[in-house]
Amino acid sequence: MNNKIIIINGPNLNLLGEREQSQYGTITYTELKQNCINESKKLGLIAEFAQSNIEGEIVNTIQNSIKKFDGIIINAAAFTHTSIAIRDALSIFKKPIIELHISNIYKREEFRHKSLISDIVTGGIFGLGSDGYILAIISMQKLLNNENK
Ligand code: DQA
Repeated sequence: MNNKIIIINGPNLNLLGEREQSQYGTITYTELKQNCINESKKLGLIAEFAQSNIEGEIVNTIQNSIKKFDGIIINAAAFTHTSIAIRDALSIFKKPIIELHISNIYKREEFRHKSLISDIVTGGIFGLGSDGYILAIISMQKLLNNENK
């Protein structure tokens, strides 16, 4: 059954609720994690929620996901704009990948306009707040069941 997904979060997302509420809202990392796990369960998915501030740890998590998970949802945070290593690791994962950003990166500083992963992922969501995670989970469930239109 294709129902195991991992939601990977990059640097500083552990401080959601405390950091830049105007960009990222008031939801805490713990609340977001619980919402994602609940929504996944409702849709018949088993979700793991991961976060690291360390680029190499994220690369390791992606590599380890190849055998363990059927899909990846990733908010690589600042590494989106800088990490060829994360891009290369994602390229090795031959199953659905959804890129996610809480804020609209194209409305912000110019250095955030470039994502090094957008052209190798299945699809992306940005600028819809933390709801984007729920939308990503719904889309991932459809992708894994070949129900996406
Ligand atoms: C972010 C956008 C990035 O530019 C930023 O570095 C983040 C969060 C978002 O979710 O909007 O840390 O990925």
